[in-house]
Amino acid sequence: MEVIIQPNEPAAAALVANIVAHDLRANPHLVLGLATGRTMEQVYRKLVTLHKEQRLDFSLCSTFNLDEYVGLIPADPNSYRHYMEHHLFRNVNVDTRNTHLPNGMAQDLDAECAHYEKLIQRFGGIDLQLLGIGKAGHIGFNEPLSALRSRTRVKALTPTTLKQNASFFGGEDKMPRRAITMGVGTILESRRCILLATGESKAEVVAKAVEGPITNMISATALQLHPHCSVVVDEAAASQLKEREYYEWIFANEPEWEPYR
Ligand code: F6R
Repeated sequence: MEVIIQPNEPAAAALVANIVAHDLRANPHLVLGLATGRTMEQVYRKLVTLHKEQRLDFSLCSTFNLDEYVGLIPADPNSYRHYMEHHLFRNVNVDTRNTHLPNGMAQDLDAECAHYEKLIQRFGGIDLQLLGIGKAGHIGFNEPLSALRSRTRVKALTPTTLKQNASFFGGEDKMPRRAITMGVGTILESRRCILLATGESKAEVVAKAVEGPITNMISATALQLHPHCSVVVDEAAASQLKEREYYEWIFANEPEWEPYR
């Protein structure tokens, strides 16, 4: 794992978008794993700018989102399909047929989860997985107690997550109680992971995820097991990290990071 600290939120989001752009230019058939949420909005904005101003080409890539609420139709403004269309898909030249999210309206949710796993495999696995982190430490909707080897499945959302996302729905009581999410095991199989966290409210959970012991109570700690995971944070989200001098030294000295410094 590497931890990259950027001065502010726009710089952190731009760095993540630049990594995506770099990988997409290197491999136009890239299979991208996508996340939703407030944190990712700036990443998608920057990718749209790169598409418009530097012709970043999405035409051959495929995407798989981490999760989708159970019971929301794709056109629902709170569905993650709608989020993705709004923030990214309709603003770049991705082929919609190559964009995938779990179907939260499926009659048989377990069959839908198994199908999603197979589809990821059929596309050759995920090359680059983007991740946010919830205040409960989740990646995707892998809430506390999620098995570290879990696969795509239905999860009940914790009270912390309901609180975190309630404002989008106009109140907790109006929120779906469950979501389909890739499992921690599914996420760990992606070839590269990048977790982006910004703001003071994520500082405590970021410190636990990066420097704490691996535990199923904070699914993001499982990323410590991933062979190629980068955690990108702004100053505020980095504020509780103990070893920041070391992380900064690595970023300043590893040749891999030169284009991003
Ligand atoms: C969303 C997802 C979640 C979010 C996390 C952070 O697809 O998988 O894990 O990334 O809840 O959300 P924000 O960015 O809104 O704080």
